[in-house]
Amino acid sequence: MADTIKLHYDVDGQDFTLAGATSANVKKRLRQLGLPPEVIRRVAIAMYEAEINMVIHADGGYIDVEITPEKIHIVFADKGPGIPDIEKAMQEGYSTASNEIRELGFGAGMGLPNIKSNSDSMKIDTVIGEGTTIDLVINVK
Ligand SMILES: Nc1ncnc2c1ncn2[C@@H]1O[C@H](COP(=O)(O)OP(=O)(O)OP(=O)(O)O)[C@@H](O)[C@H]1O
Ligand SMILES: [Mg+2]
Repeated sequence: MADTIKLHYDVDGQDFTLAGATSANVKKRLRQLGLPPEVIRRVAIAMYEAEINMVIHADGGYIDVEITPEKIHIVFADKGPGIPDIEKAMQEGYSTASNEIRELGFGAGMGLPNIKSNSDSMKIDTVIGEGTTIDLVINVK
């Protein structure tokens, strides 16, 4: 695996049945590339949570993935409402999910903390009324 592999996905904000499809697809690609299972597990968890957040909180967006022998770099970009208080949003158990969303099994307030604990670097860039971009790096080691 000498070259950088770049993947791009559009995330549909309306269709809940498709949420999680991107992380599943990337997981498959990483397996084919023979990456360590622990790295694949971290990428899959972080991607799943960020992808679901894009669907339930932000009406979809896109995901760019860059795979090198050293690291997986993932950018999640949406045009949702933005996150007013990132510190609060990062706390375990904090969620603004509606009852309807909770009935679907989301809204425990564990997504962002899980993304953080499964990545080596996490940067959130958010502008109220414009959207949120999350930049993640997971090292291959
Ligand atoms: N992409 C986003 N755009 C706008 N707000 C977001 C976004 N991602 C997260 N948030 C806000 O941060 C809160 C915490 O997110 P987190 O993923 O930790 O929990 P959750 O999605 O509410 O529940 P869970 O992930 O456990 O199903 C959300 O409830 C929401 O208010
Ligand atoms: Mg979440």
